Amino acid sequence: MNRIISQRKTDSHFSKIASKYKNLRTTDTDHIQYIKNQLSKKSQIVMADIGCGDGRYSLELLKCLGEDCYLHCIDFNENMIKYLKSHLMDQGIFNFCAAPGDASKLPLESETMDYIVTFNAIHHFDIQKFLAEVYECLKDDGRAFIYTRLRNQNSRNIWGQYFPLFSEMEDRLYEFDELQYAIKKADMRIVHTNIFGHNRTSNLDDLVDKAKNNHYSTFDLYSESEFKKSLDIFKQNIIDNFDDLENIQWQDENILIEISK
Ligand SMILES: C[S@@+](CC[C@H](N)C(=O)[O-])C[C@H]1O[C@@H](n2cnc3c(N)ncnc32)[C@H](O)[C@@H]1O
Repeated sequence: MNRIISQRKTDSHFSKIASKYKNLRTTDTDHIQYIKNQLSKKSQIVMADIGCGDGRYSLELLKCLGEDCYLHCIDFNENMIKYLKSHLMDQGIFNFCAAPGDASKLPLESETMDYIVTFNAIHHFDIQKFLAEVYECLKDDGRAFIYTRLRNQNSRNIWGQYFPLFSEMEDRLYEFDELQYAIKKADMRIVHTNIFGHNRTSNLDDLVDKAKNNHYSTFDLYSESEFKKSLDIFKQNIIDNFDDLENIQWQDENILIEISK
């Protein structure tokens, strides 16, 4: 799909789901704790969360790092920024700013960031432009953390295995060697990688609701009739493959890549 049409479609998807986003996705915290442990013990940290969405991970980061951290939250989608601001302020968190912005042209000053993070969003960006911006905005000893699911991880989750066309449709995700290549091309290097496995349990009704409510933006790539047909096949696949439909278990897997200049 043409990149501009695809960006527009993605943006309209995130506008539609902004108000309910944090209830659709499961918020894990082990990678946030891992990031905290990787940070050097500076007294004041300036960070940016790019593609921050409604701020569910901005909030976890700020709760974990406390008052010593100031976070710039940036997202293409104005609705997401609106929900993020009220969500964080409702929790009594004020050491952040939030503004709409494009990962290809970050509204940040050169060499001002100690850390840049991005969660579940890099597959929506122009990766080479984003990494060039990361290079520009990070201080010399700064680090960036990219948290995403790889294409092969996506194909092994409950949707990739049982929802027809899910992995084929989601062709925006990267494999590790593609990320490695893009990082090298941006003149940066990988410092660490870590895989996170998350055990999930759900019942069939909740899974069906998640799909209908576009739990992943992938579902928005189906035509209406394609989605309906695939959802029926998904239900049957689950019935055929799991004995207890109240207790369907699987594992979601993600990767965290830490990079430096
Ligand atoms: C799957 S959501 C992830 C949100 C959040 N990081 C999380 O994990 O909950 C992807 C986010 O990336 C944003 N996004 C997509 N393209 C973008 C771009 N070019 N620049 C900045 N944000 C973008 C979307 O608006 C959306 O909020």
